[in-house]
Amino acid sequence: MKGIVLAGGLGTRLLPLTKITNKHLLPIFDKPMIYYPLQTLINAGIEDIMIVTGGNNAGDFLRLLGNGKQFGLKDINYTYQEGEGGIAEALDLAKNFADGEKTIIILGDNIIEKNITKEKEEFEKQEEGAKILIKKVSNPSSFGVPELDGEKVTGIEEKPKHPKTDCAVIGIYMYDSHVFDIISTLERSERGELEITDVNNAYIKNETMTCSVLDGWWIDAGSSPENLAEATQLVIKSGANNLT
Ligand code: G1P
Repeated sequence: MKGIVLAGGLGTRLLPLTKITNKHLLPIFDKPMIYYPLQTLINAGIEDIMIVTGGNNAGDFLRLLGNGKQFGLKDINYTYQEGEGGIAEALDLAKNFADGEKTIIILGDNIIEKNITKEKEEFEKQEEGAKILIKKVSNPSSFGVPELDGEKVTGIEEKPKHPKTDCAVIGIYMYDSHVFDIISTLERSERGELEITDVNNAYIKNETMTCSVLDGWWIDAGSSPENLAEATQLVIKSGANNLT
């Protein structure tokens, strides 16, 4: 299985911090933000990783991460997203890299306390389709919100005003190679993006989506200055920065 870290975008919700750098390079406690999702993939046993970035500071990722030696990797693959076309558009840039294999996608600002080893192993055994991870939150309207029937997810609404559950779909997604066929059928949303929620809803419609509840805390560190600060506090308190 291959891993893809999505680290593009303009980070407008964190201005002025992001005026001169990419949000995924901002500090969370004592490490740049992108170290955490990268380590999450590595901790799950993923060795073949691509970073999708963009904007004016793309070159800084190469200077920071190099060939991945400090993380115990043989190399790291990089590609560049022009503009702000959304998560699904960024993922599409990794199509050649995926080369028909299953993929795990992690958003470059998503930090978790524990690991996704169990979920990755479950998805390895899953014959086809996709897997998402969900977590109870106090502000579901800020996220993709799953509609649930027992343990089964029956639909996802992106940032709904009136959320149907108090859960969020976190920014870690597992897909079979069919994901790129789905992306090629998507239309841009009102905000002009190819939405990952539309990808996930296509799998739900095909009845090939599975869903697990993530163990431990999760934070979308790049979604607001408050979350950026809280992420640092969570990492300090739980000692979750045991990075290489
Ligand atoms: C994105 C997704 C959303 C998901 C969130 C997790 O939102 O669109 O469905 O819940 O990531 O971090 P964004 O933070 O890019 O607005």
